[in-house]
Amino acid sequence: MTPVLTTSDDTTGVAVTDRPHAVRLSHVHKTFGRPGTAAPVLDDISLDVAPGEFVTLLGASGCGKSTLLNLVAGLDSPTAGSIEVPGGRPALMFQDHALFPWLTAGRNVELALRLAGVPKAERQAEAERLLDLVRLGGAYKKRVHELSGGMRQRVALARSLAQGSDVLLMDEPFAALDAITRDVLHDEITRIWAERRLTVLFVTHNVREAVRLAQRVILLSSRPGRIAREWRIDLPQPRRIESAGVADLSIEITEELRGEIRRHVQH
Ligand SMILES: Nc1ncnc2c1ncn2[C@@H]1O[C@H](COP(=O)(O)OP(=O)(O)OP(=O)(O)O)[C@@H](O)[C@H]1O
Ligand SMILES: [Mg+2]
Repeated sequence: MTPVLTTSDDTTGVAVTDRPHAVRLSHVHKTFGRPGTAAPVLDDISLDVAPGEFVTLLGASGCGKSTLLNLVAGLDSPTAGSIEVPGGRPALMFQDHALFPWLTAGRNVELALRLAGVPKAERQAEAERLLDLVRLGGAYKKRVHELSGGMRQRVALARSLAQGSDVLLMDEPFAALDAITRDVLHDEITRIWAERRLTVLFVTHNVREAVRLAQRVILLSSRPGRIAREWRIDLPQPRRIESAGVADLSIEITEELRGEIRRHVQH
């Protein structure tokens, strides 16, 4: 059954298979608190993400990026509009790895496999395979405190992949890492995205990171959060964060982001 989140005034969110999108937001509004008493956080967001597409979301702090991701993850419901994820519940990865410190890296991944319904006999081999995929083959028995920040985020990525979804939602997953570790993880996520044909919706504050990774960058405005602009990024992969193409486009997008932040501050 296709999970479709619809509001009572929307009867269009009927499950239909073979749609040409992995995620579809149709006229999504989100207001926290009682309607009419608070300003909307998200206002009329419509967005299609194609299967296998890598999309990054940029916007000022507080503009509603995490809110949007949480809605797509099914952790919250839109006030109006509909969200469709035809492939089932997406996997979600946060800035904070949120690993269980009393479990080893391998057991953390196995727990996600168990929740995804993978039979017990297959879990260890699958966890080892996923740790290999994130280049942590030797870390199965390591506890969380024995791992560096970058290694913890790799385990968190393996655990997200263990959820078995083709859609991966990432909320500033590398924001707390140093520049070099982040750079390495950019290579890894680009490789894994291509190998596994994932659909990725990736939130970041970092314009260069957005351009380095994405096929499409979406800029949200603030209060209310609307889609202000989007860019298709045709630069060939693998890209380097310091390459001229990434830098040039980042300058243009940063200008637009600054404009959005200025507009927000003036209100
Ligand atoms: N559960 C909630 N209840 C009430 N207000 C909320 C809730 N979650 C988010 N908000 C409000 O919605 C707005 C958008 O928050 P959100 O966390 O989505 O922003 P963001 O773009 O992810 O910001 P940042 O870049 O700082 O992470 C903020 O004003 C926030 O206070
Ligand atoms: Mg956020």
